[in-house]
Amino acid sequence: MMADKIRRTKIRQILDEGKSETELCVKGWVRTKRESKNVAFVALNDGSTINNLQLVLDVPKTDESTLRKITTGASISAKGKLAESQGAGQSVELLVENIEVLGEAHPDEYPLQPKRHSLEFLREIAHLRPRTNTFGGVFRVRHQMAYALHTFFHEKGFLYLHTPILTASDAEGAGETFKVTTLDLNNVPKTEDGQVDYKQDFFEKETNLTVSGQLEGELAALAVSEIYTFGPTFRAENSNTTRHLAEFWMVEPEMAFYDLDDSMDLAEEMLKYMVKHALENCKDDLAFLNKRLQDEEKQKPQNQRSEMSLLERLEFVAENDFERVSYTDAIEILKRSKPNQKKKFQFLIEEWGADLQSEHERFLVEKHFKKPVILYNYPKDIKAFYMRQNDDGKTVAAMDVLFPGIGEIVGGSQREERGAKLEERMQEMDIPKEELSWYLDTRKFGTVPHSGYGLGFERMIQFVTGMGNIRDVIPFPRTPGNCEF
Ligand code: 4AD
Ligand code: MG
Repeated sequence: MMADKIRRTKIRQILDEGKSETELCVKGWVRTKRESKNVAFVALNDGSTINNLQLVLDVPKTDESTLRKITTGASISAKGKLAESQGAGQSVELLVENIEVLGEAHPDEYPLQPKRHSLEFLREIAHLRPRTNTFGGVFRVRHQMAYALHTFFHEKGFLYLHTPILTASDAEGAGETFKVTTLDLNNVPKTEDGQVDYKQDFFEKETNLTVSGQLEGELAALAVSEIYTFGPTFRAENSNTTRHLAEFWMVEPEMAFYDLDDSMDLAEEMLKYMVKHALENCKDDLAFLNKRLQDEEKQKPQNQRSEMSLLERLEFVAENDFERVSYTDAIEILKRSKPNQKKKFQFLIEEWGADLQSEHERFLVEKHFKKPVILYNYPKDIKAFYMRQNDDGKTVAAMDVLFPGIGEIVGGSQREERGAKLEERMQEMDIPKEELSWYLDTRKFGTVPHSGYGLGFERMIQFVTGMGNIRDVIPFPRTPGNCEF
């Protein structure tokens, strides 16, 4: 009876501060069991840490059928006394006095076994993969990164602004939106000239899921000075790459009275803050992920292995200034580069104005500068309508932060705050003024220079965890043809 009153303690707390002789109750999932005639060792994990607690069971004193049900994946509740561990690998262990199986996981059916499974296989069982060390680690790091972001912006006095998911605008103008409708798709109402009659739709106009919270973010920044949004965004781009998702999370700060330089400073400070936070607060998970990546690298041919380990890369980014290079200078470097001269790039750089592909971005970061790079002042024709036009008539005050192994991780700009210039650009790009009258109003009433950017949250998690595929840093990835779970 007494034992029932002990409250459950999480394994992380026990391993951090547990003292011998304390009476404890633990709950979690079995990772492994080793059994001999007299004693059984169970490695228990409850997700609070990557480390397991070792449970020691007196076999003759344990109910036989209970013992049989303690298999990999089963959930259990155990009570007993903490003791200093005799064995190597852990400082304390739990001498079990009472154990209960809460839920069995039949060995013939449970797909996770105590061995390394491929990431491809685990993607097919994304509902169970959080129970592996790798995914537990990735999701704990992901949580810490979200926490770090909120702390960073809160301490600077930014307001966390919730921008809408449902919207009628396509902020990036790339036409990659997911439509939202309640119309009966088998019987779509049409207007007299044969177009879909959106007047009869739920919002009485054409609507989609947001691709960015920026435009709404600007409205708020032009009232309270500094805001950030952090939420899911949706893009129906049909790109099956290791860096694209159809649903991804974006952090978008927007700052009144910031020019492009101020915005680059903020982005660099934020990224370093996040990396430092991970190094300080995710030690065990990063040590595991570092080792995991080292093992993976060993499978690659020597010349394709990265020069730095995950931890070295994180330390390097936290400690070193990013390189800031104009688009024009970058194009010169790329034109003269070996892979361009030797036609090794898939897309050769011929002239100023070319859009940069990830192969070019990664060349600049990984081969040329060997550090994160911020490219700025891009040709206006490859960038969005809202970016501030520079005096040269050719470029806009845009900036992209490029990271090793990732390529573009942040995209942003100074915004065109001059109403006439903005309207002119919208006209050139065929963006109807009427649809964005609310946006144009901010330029009419008390406009100010302002800037902002968007960080792809999953790409940042890829960088911090060393995971090569973006599908493995979000719990339930959405990609073309894949919306399971
Ligand atoms: O460069 P993007 O398209 O910029 C914007 O959306 C701006 N409205 C941001 C702003 O200024 N407030 O996207 C920003 C970042 C990219 O640098 C990339 O890291 C990430 O979002 N991103 C994606 N991440 C995963 N999957 C996708 N399909 C992504 N598209 C962009
Ligand atoms: Mg971009």
